[in-house]
Amino acid sequence: MSSAAPSVPEWLQQRLKRCDGAVPFATYMEWALHDPEHGAYGSGRLSLGPKGDFATSPSLGPDFAALLAPQIAAWLEPLPGPLSLVETGPGEGTLALQLARELAAGWPDLAQRCELVLVEPNPGMAERQRSLLDDAPLPVRWCSFGELAQAPVRGVVLAHEVLDALAVERITSDGERWCRQLVRLDASADAPPRLLLEPGEPLSPDLLALLEPLQLAEPGPQRPSGFTTELHNGMAPWLEQAGAALEQGWLLVIDYALEAWRYYAPSRSDGTLMAYRQQRAYGDPLLDPGQCDLTAHLCIEQLEIAARTTGWEPIGQCRQGEALLALGLAQRLHGLQEGATPAQLPQLLARREALLRLVDPHALGDFRWLAFSRGDPRAAPGLPAFLSPPP
Ligand SMILES: C[S@@+](CC[C@H](N)C(=O)[O-])C[C@H]1O[C@@H](n2cnc3c(N)ncnc32)[C@H](O)[C@@H]1O
Repeated sequence: MSSAAPSVPEWLQQRLKRCDGAVPFATYMEWALHDPEHGAYGSGRLSLGPKGDFATSPSLGPDFAALLAPQIAAWLEPLPGPLSLVETGPGEGTLALQLARELAAGWPDLAQRCELVLVEPNPGMAERQRSLLDDAPLPVRWCSFGELAQAPVRGVVLAHEVLDALAVERITSDGERWCRQLVRLDASADAPPRLLLEPGEPLSPDLLALLEPLQLAEPGPQRPSGFTTELHNGMAPWLEQAGAALEQGWLLVIDYALEAWRYYAPSRSDGTLMAYRQQRAYGDPLLDPGQCDLTAHLCIEQLEIAARTTGWEPIGQCRQGEALLALGLAQRLHGLQEGATPAQLPQLLARREALLRLVDPHALGDFRWLAFSRGDPRAAPGLPAFLSPPP
């Protein structure tokens, strides 16, 4: 057993008691993030941006969307008929709005054929997106993947920092086998209730099947008793739903991600799970349930395997720093001071700072951009611009 949270909210105590005191970690994470009343996203409590709980690339300013827009336009332009730019997990709606503005200003003919579709399961977040996108220059609608699957669209699906917010199973080695980690309520009589992490039953065959292609079905001597990590078992169902919604086009996933050898490295003995709140990061996922963001990195190979089995073709992947340089970030940085007046200096310095943060190899620059296609949308062979050498 490990880790005790300082206090357990009443709603969570009641839920856990109804489940005989313990649930798989994935259930706890689903509640803590997505419960419509108590979850950090479900309630709309979390806020994104430099003044919110954590910053994301688009929240640093419009440059990220300006650099990404030519890639989106290059993917959309050869496709026939009405087009959709689908953003899943749009957070505050900032990236969707910025991309709509870029497309409308830089590709007006394309924009005439294009709508924005926002896929956001959390009502609290969708409410905020609606007020931000009130005067977006493209038609906007909100719907679920299930609704889109009734009339699949053509275009681009964007998943920026959303797969890391899907609930994960935490798994822990008992020295010989992987076990599912549980979150247990410890409500012994004379101490305040607290949450504990503890090993549960050995992994079921469907969860083990995710580890088999990585030759990790057994933890082996390098991952001794107590070694703990994560399994993104929600990824394949998510890709299946996204695929059913898209008749032809592209998927761009931008997220924290690691190769399997790094993800499951013997030295990473407590996984990748982090909690974020008010610009601070915490390693304890039991801290303030429902008040913090919880995120787990993606495993690149697991994502690619899940993509192939759900009808997506992996196109390639690289780090965000490389992608943005290929899309012209250095030229944008150099162009900042051209024609600038002294009065504009503070604003230019802030933009320069934001551009540098986007490619910082110790932070956002280390994010991965992973491209997938379905329905053979490629008009011409060749890599997407972000996977090509910088100009
Ligand atoms: C970290 S925020 C990403 C925000 C935005 N993409 C950005 O970069 O600024 C995660 C978002 O994903 C949403 N989300 C969580 N689970 C989701 C799911 N299964 N499908 C779609 N969106 C989801 C959350 O409600 C939230 O809006």
